Amino acid sequence: MKSDCIQTTTCQERKKDPIEMFHSGQLVKVCAPMVRYSKLSFRTLVRKYNCDLCYTPMIVAADFVRSAKARDSEFTTNQGDCPLIVQFAANDARLLSDAARIVCPYANGIDINCGCPQRIHDDVTRTVDLCRKAEATGVSWITVHGRTVEERHQPVHYEAIKIIKESMSIPIVANGDIRSLKEAENVWHITGTDGVMVARGLLANPAMFAGYEETPLKCIWDWVDIALELGTPYMCFHQHLMYMMEKITSRQEKKIFNALSSTSAVLDYLTDHYGIDRAS
Ligand SMILES: Cc1cc2nc3c(=O)[nH]c(=O)nc-3n(C[C@H](O)[C@H](O)[C@H](O)COP(=O)(O)O)c2cc1C
Repeated sequence: MKSDCIQTTTCQERKKDPIEMFHSGQLVKVCAPMVRYSKLSFRTLVRKYNCDLCYTPMIVAADFVRSAKARDSEFTTNQGDCPLIVQFAANDARLLSDAARIVCPYANGIDINCGCPQRIHDDVTRTVDLCRKAEATGVSWITVHGRTVEERHQPVHYEAIKIIKESMSIPIVANGDIRSLKEAENVWHITGTDGVMVARGLLANPAMFAGYEETPLKCIWDWVDIALELGTPYMCFHQHLMYMMEKITSRQEKKIFNALSSTSAVLDYLTDHYGIDRAS
């Protein structure tokens, strides 16, 4: 099991309620929690390309509660950043509930990171038991990554996710190795889940939920506009571009682009190479 989600509020501005979305019968397309990456600027970008629900990166609840500096650096949002789930890591119920109370007015739910490597068990009935226990505690939905602790690059066990879905009453979200909208729809069909969560596929192509097979140039320029407007730190700005351009640049171009060290150098590079396509 990847994570448990507890719903707190519905989105005041746009009235988007994740639970209603999960019960709509439509595929709910979710941007995964990603440390360093699923921050406000990236969430803004993927929402522009049909992402329905976004998670923050994992935040350590104890630091978040104790330090104003941690709160400022770890959690930024705005009115358009909705629906939003804040993911916490915690080993103390009081600290988790204190952290949840702080973000509650700005989020649609709290997600508990149940450990990236503690995924499904070899014996699926043990995973079902675990999910049922989580359900009994009142979680609103569960995301399942279909690999065991030992597995890293082996194929995802979508059939295990299907069994979990069939055994539960709350919504289940499938996660693992989804790289395109077609794959997302396929996983949704074969698992019967209520949504799919994507991490690396969105890093490589933030427009994938809109049906693009690789990052369109328009998306790169959208990233530039959003990142600059929201004041994204250079490392994050550049790193995202490296991911997005991985498939669409030659090895030689990558070498040059990846070595750039300032926003102005990146903007010059993009204008020289892709400026003409700014509006396409
Ligand atoms: C850069 C990166 C950061 C991640 N950070 C988190 C995190 O903060 N919390 C979490 O639960 N999972 C985290 N994960 C795991 C992803 O949410 C996801 O479960 C995993 O990458 C498998 O999905 P994928 O095949 O779509 O990449 C991270 C993954 C990546 C690639």
